[in-house]
Amino acid sequence: MKVTIVNQEKKTDDALEQFSIDVLTGLCSKPKNLPAKYFYDDEGSKIFQKITQHEDYYPTRSEFNILSKIADTLPELLKEDEIDIIELGVGDGHKSKLVIDGFTRAKTKVNFYPIDISREAMNLLNTNIQENELLSIEGIVSEYFQGLTHIRENSTNKKLVLFLGSNIGNFNNVQVQGFLRRLWLCLNNDDYILIGFDLKKDINKLLTAYNDSAGHTTNFNLNLLTRINRELGGNFDLSKFQHFGTYNPSLGAMLSYLLSLEAQDVEIKSLERSFHFKPYEAIHLEYSFKYIESDIEFLSGHTGFEVIDHFYDDNKYFTDSLWKTKK
Ligand SMILES: C[S@@+](CC[C@H](N)C(=O)[O-])C[C@H]1O[C@@H](n2cnc3c(N)ncnc32)[C@H](O)[C@@H]1O
Repeated sequence: MKVTIVNQEKKTDDALEQFSIDVLTGLCSKPKNLPAKYFYDDEGSKIFQKITQHEDYYPTRSEFNILSKIADTLPELLKEDEIDIIELGVGDGHKSKLVIDGFTRAKTKVNFYPIDISREAMNLLNTNIQENELLSIEGIVSEYFQGLTHIRENSTNKKLVLFLGSNIGNFNNVQVQGFLRRLWLCLNNDDYILIGFDLKKDINKLLTAYNDSAGHTTNFNLNLLTRINRELGGNFDLSKFQHFGTYNPSLGAMLSYLLSLEAQDVEIKSLERSFHFKPYEAIHLEYSFKYIESDIEFLSGHTGFEVIDHFYDDNKYFTDSLWKTKK
């Protein structure tokens, strides 16, 4: 598998500068926050894989169930001899394999372009998916749209963009429309996207999934503080912070926080300042918005897409929604 790191030369310095700015902005804000995309350093990607394999975390199992059921339906719907499958935030790719295998079983040639901000995601992916005579792979380590811009220069076939695992739930109502319009701009008329939406459901099911009993989610969130300590010279003491995941019914979203267990000051050398935390003060880390079918229809209609179908798992916990680009 070929792996391209987009903007490699500039990447390290630019990425570190952006990380510094985002941490400074987030920790100076009231309430404090840190952007979720920074979860995924090498260790973060490995911990996320453990979350997805835990029995409390239903989204991955549910989506695996859906993709197993529709793997042979997608090639029948798309009817292409050759297709470019682009995946945004691929992770370990074990669900992507189901989709790809469906196309190659139907003798469709697949050019797979997995995009992920995490280099480690490409290593995990490489253990799950290998090239063959019907499958070529170019992994791209970059932000979503940098990767899409890079691919546009090479991709001439019909595109199927995968955005799986409820990544879309991390955007709020305004951000999600901006994201989808930007994606629409990168696609041609009649290109397809398959998006994973986690559905509204019994709140206890959500709370269990986002507070798994093995503590992987706790480790995942605390790892962001370790990353700040390592990359920016911070002195966060992880034993003085606690993970807290809760559901906000007005927003329709799971929210994830780290709480400071006592009054404390944390110094971050490269930012040349320290940050004060009051007892039980929160750092907001992540939204995970939950949907119902009419929300999904609204989003597609308002961002330039037509819904082809919503595919559900056996429990109706999750849907993968197939849309066609309309220009
Ligand atoms: C919640 S995980 C989902 C992984 C996989 N799609 C799945 O369903 O299991 C999010 C993935 O998106 C990647 N990611 C997050 N923000 C990104 C960004 N802005 N650009 C590119 N990749 C991103 C992370 O590194 C991570 O692998």
